[in-house]
Amino acid sequence: MYGLRRNAQGQACLGETPLSDLLTASGLETPVYLYDLDAIAHEARSLIAGYGEARHVIAFAVKANTAGSVVRTLAAEGTGADVVSAAELEVALACGIPADKIVMSGVAKKDGEIDFAIASGVLAIQGESVEEVFRIAARARALGRRARVALRLNPGVEIESHAHISTGHDKAKFGIARTDVGRAFEAIDSESDSLILVGLSTHVGSMLGEVAPYLKSAGHVCEVARARRANRPGLEYVNFGGGFGIDYGTGQLSRPADFAQAAVRLARSEGLSDLMLVSEPGRSLVGPHGVLVAKVVQSKVSGDNCWVMIDAGMNDLLRPALYGAKHRIEPLDREPTLPEWRVVGPVCESSDDFGTHPLGPTPPEAVVIRDAGAYSFTMASEYNGRALASEVFVRAGRIVSMSPSAGPAAWVKRRLQA
Ligand code: LLP
Repeated sequence: MYGLRRNAQGQACLGETPLSDLLTASGLETPVYLYDLDAIAHEARSLIAGYGEARHVIAFAVKANTAGSVVRTLAAEGTGADVVSAAELEVALACGIPADKIVMSGVAKKDGEIDFAIASGVLAIQGESVEEVFRIAARARALGRRARVALRLNPGVEIESHAHISTGHDKAKFGIARTDVGRAFEAIDSESDSLILVGLSTHVGSMLGEVAPYLKSAGHVCEVARARRANRPGLEYVNFGGGFGIDYGTGQLSRPADFAQAAVRLARSEGLSDLMLVSEPGRSLVGPHGVLVAKVVQSKVSGDNCWVMIDAGMNDLLRPALYGAKHRIEPLDREPTLPEWRVVGPVCESSDDFGTHPLGPTPPEAVVIRDAGAYSFTMASEYNGRALASEVFVRAGRIVSMSPSAGPAAWVKRRLQA
């Protein structure tokens, strides 16, 4: 049930079905993303089990995967959503996630986005600065409503992760610094006609290998929550964020449920177990359960250099170019074997390079790029006149929905209209 499998013939499968059969059945041209909805639902259930009896909301960070089929699958398991734009909020609501399980984050929410969140009745708008708290209050006043808000705290904790995905340190633009927490409470209290403080949240960063840094930043939230509750009632939740890492092939110490169990234990030891526990996982729910299939366009051997050029590029999967991330790439219909080839895309950038991968003595016709269910299609662009890839959604080994690429003709038409 977990990630990609090989059948007895060595073919890469999603569930029990070979990807090449799914691709043929879809009638789509590569590059194609394929997702295993059963595995995504199973992933959600494992995390829910980690919370045991504790009252909780798993707010799926929709930015990781915005596909309706995926969000509806998670909604059916009872998850909430963490959204960072009005458009993501609209998707979450339309997929059946109840507003009171949705939190809105983001350092630069526009007035219209705040208005939409207030009108939708979300669990909370998570304020990321003192200045923003005042702006949320002003919008609530303008709408004649009282806005449910939380404060996103910046715990000032460094994590061992790529600098681009470390968000809880002193220089990060995210959240309210330790030194500003007092000012933030003053802002909330001075605007109590327009604001109701229901939560405290944090998110220390992404791809956490183990629980320790998560607990360190969660500890800060608990400390602030205890101090606040000593003076004023009203807090409904603490939110320790997401960031649970996945195994891209180099190992992963802690499983998502370990983070959940650690959160439950921490809340209990801090005397906060009457509060609801919110988390914001994105990658761990979907990352291992999506793949990107690409065709080999050609190979090129020159001196010591052996390249394989595929029809997916950095516009389809940006993570290697942006973060130096390595996604395992394997032949679609046989087991990976040495020698390694340098796999590159068609985009006119040197960084359109997926690293070296064991594709065997003769390059295969097609390859599968693993662990592409999170931050992959959602970060795609149309650079170089390349249309967004197609997506295929699979349940019980069958295609249940598809989102075909608009193709290059639609791109040409739009650019000519510009
Ligand atoms: N909550 C907040 C406030 C966030 O900023 C994020 C991710 C999450 C939750 C979910 O984190 P996750 O559980 O997915 O690690 N594009 C990068 C990751 C960027 C993460 C941005 N924020 C990547 O591809 O690695």
